[in-house]
Amino acid sequence: MFQPYVLALSALLGHAAAQTGAELDQPMLAGGPRGGPGAMLRFGCSQIVIERLDPLVDPGINPSAHMHQIVGGDAFNASMPLADIAKEASCTSCHFKEDLSNYWTANLYFRARNGSYKRVPQVANQFNEGDNAGITIYYTSPGANLTTAFKPGFRMLTGDSMRRTSENLGKNMQQCYRCYQSPNFGGSMYSPCMDPKWDTDHFPTQPCPGGIRSNINFPICWDGKNLDTPNHRDHVAHPVGGAPSFSVVSGKCPASHPVKIPQIMLEVVWDTSGFANKDDWPEDGSQPLVLSSGDITGYGQHADYVFGWEGDSLQKAMDNRCYLRNCTLLTELSPKVKNKCTVPTAAQEKFHLDEWLPELPGGGSGI
Ligand SMILES: *[C@@H]1O[C@H](CO)[C@@H](O)[C@H](O)[C@H]1NC(C)=O
Ligand SMILES: *[C@@H]1O[C@H](CO)[C@@H](O)[C@H](O)[C@H]1NC(C)=O
Ligand SMILES: *[C@@H]1O[C@H](CO)[C@@H](O)[C@H](O)[C@H]1NC(C)=O
Ligand SMILES: *[C@@H]1O[C@H](CO)[C@@H](O)[C@H](O)[C@H]1NC(C)=O
Repeated sequence: MFQPYVLALSALLGHAAAQTGAELDQPMLAGGPRGGPGAMLRFGCSQIVIERLDPLVDPGINPSAHMHQIVGGDAFNASMPLADIAKEASCTSCHFKEDLSNYWTANLYFRARNGSYKRVPQVANQFNEGDNAGITIYYTSPGANLTTAFKPGFRMLTGDSMRRTSENLGKNMQQCYRCYQSPNFGGSMYSPCMDPKWDTDHFPTQPCPGGIRSNINFPICWDGKNLDTPNHRDHVAHPVGGAPSFSVVSGKCPASHPVKIPQIMLEVVWDTSGFANKDDWPEDGSQPLVLSSGDITGYGQHADYVFGWEGDSLQKAMDNRCYLRNCTLLTELSPKVKNKCTVPTAAQEKFHLDEWLPELPGGGSGI
């Protein structure tokens, strides 16, 4: 399993190089064994819980405004103080035992013609067979000692759940959807957000019988001081000249945010195969998917991160140019072990969430 994983990912990243080389002065693509100077971890984290909690945006509020799928360490809670959660968690659903961070994104729902909603299942990503759905995590660094890993307590949010248009998004998509036409990820080998045919920053307008993959990129520059800011965004920034594409971690950080941090990207796969029959779609031909936040455009996809790597394990993995899951400094967990790490549902709901629902959890109706 490991060799095809590496070969396929190399092909994916090779394509990224071809796509971006012309646009940036000095693209610094990661990937030790490929000959590149950088580091790139790519690994799966199974879901620990799907529920309406959001310790960043709605701390202590149960239930929070909308549903999320949460992965990572079991210290996840309705509120999470600026503490070292690696010390509070007792297990992780992530591939590397050292990563007790939490990551979460919005869920996806299908709106039937009769106005009912059904959650679209999340499934294990390509090369992460055996995971209980979850999120695939990437950490990328341009080379040894060129990024500073996050500090205990650090958290950030990227994307905007209120966004409904492409205005001011920049030329490189910071979040996108890939629409697969056939099973097994449709054979597309483009780097995330770079397939001109099937990647869009809004929801696909056509059925995706092979599933939809959602990618979300985080900023790569930090102010060097604040573990958080009131909107969870102002302590991080994109490089001068705008946000780079995924895995292009070069670019000069602005003076206000001088510290280069590893680039985090999240990847979620939804199984839309049961929702691809156009006869079930709205009669006006519009697409029927809606994010748990009530967004029918898809522009409002967003992601949250609470850092929780043990000690300097992430810094070491970046400085030693760890590649994909190939990192002798880190301890791998099998799907069987990591799938056992879960968090009991704490949020109160009036419906059984995996049935047809008369409204989105939290009451949104799709705008
Ligand atoms: C979550 O926080 C509550 C209230 O502080 C606490 O009772 C509970 O043990 C915490 N749960 C976890 C999993 O840490
Ligand atoms: C609404 O439509 C869905 C899909 O056709 C169906 O499964 C569900 O039972 C319907 N719900 C109601 C309340 O009619
Ligand atoms: C990175 O930093 C470590 C520790 O300070 C040092 O041992 C190593 O030689 C450095 N590597 C490079 C490529 O500069
Ligand atoms: C894993 O990394 C080691 C050390 O860099 C390298 O020798 C080996 O070829 C890599 N394995 C794969 C499958 O990429």
